[in-house]
Amino acid sequence: MKRRRKRRSPAGIFGLIALSVVGAGLVAASVATQLRAAEPVTIVAVGDIACSPTHVFFNGGAGTDTWCRMKATSDLALSLEPDAALVLGDLQYEDGTLAAFQRSYDTNWGRLKEITRPAVGNHEYQTKGAKGYFDYFGAVAGIRGLGFYSYDLGDWHVVALNSQCSEVGCGVGSVQEQWLRADLAANPKLCTLAYWHHPRFSSGGHGNDDDLQPLWQALQDHEADVVLAGHDHNYERFAPQRADGVFDRNGIRSFVVGSGGKNLDPFRKIKANSVVRNNTDFGVLKMTLDRRSYSWQFINVDGEVKDKGEADCVTEPAGRSAATTPEPTPRPTP
Ligand SMILES: [Fe+2]
Repeated sequence: MKRRRKRRSPAGIFGLIALSVVGAGLVAASVATQLRAAEPVTIVAVGDIACSPTHVFFNGGAGTDTWCRMKATSDLALSLEPDAALVLGDLQYEDGTLAAFQRSYDTNWGRLKEITRPAVGNHEYQTKGAKGYFDYFGAVAGIRGLGFYSYDLGDWHVVALNSQCSEVGCGVGSVQEQWLRADLAANPKLCTLAYWHHPRFSSGGHGNDDDLQPLWQALQDHEADVVLAGHDHNYERFAPQRADGVFDRNGIRSFVVGSGGKNLDPFRKIKANSVVRNNTDFGVLKMTLDRRSYSWQFINVDGEVKDKGEADCVTEPAGRSAATTPEPTPRPTP
């Protein structure tokens, strides 16, 4: 029989929510944490999750083979016994109402709510101000109307951003970009991970999104390591890149993990630095965050590992070293 690891109390992982004053009077939520520093942290991450309870393939929440697999992905996530669940937006289709969250998302991924730190997606904003999303998650989703916040997980600094740029702004000088730069300056960890909904780089139907470049640049300037996003309904891993899309071994490695259950979509134009693509498996990204390094696995709902790897955290800024030799030849969908 498999020996089950003792689950630590969520309060031991995520500490008190504090307010930090940043820049010219901007107040943003920051979640402090108290995790034992020497211990690796396990996270799961995925977006694009729960069908509307009125969806034709909702099927009492069980879905079908190709639609509405939110119960299967949440079963998988639970089985991995993560310390934290980073959900990457479009958590509740179609409009992210509180009633839909309660009838669909809460019955599956809601089982991980205590350890969940969410990012908001465009479908949540189909209800004005993403009211259902902020009502469902409460203070843990950051300040209502902003939705960006940060916290520590083990030795890592982790930042949840709001990529609904029409709502909060993502450009240079925007409140969010200023907050991000101040937050990163105030938390100079060796290892940093950021996540949001709309991918900066993607070979999916939505493609690359230049609106996110200023946020990526801020992260790059502070030697961040990993960015996670959803929005395109597939799994894709990119080699480390700079904000302008040029490969750099000291750039940021990114993942699109939009395989949370709603459905899967085809890839379009394959973008530079795309290394692994999969649009046939619902599943989650599992990451282990260690003191100076990290590893990842993309695991499908049958428990099969479809992608994996490991890397050290970045120790010098991108663009300042002769580090333009590409990673091993990109390979197509496994
Ligand atoms: Fe989306």
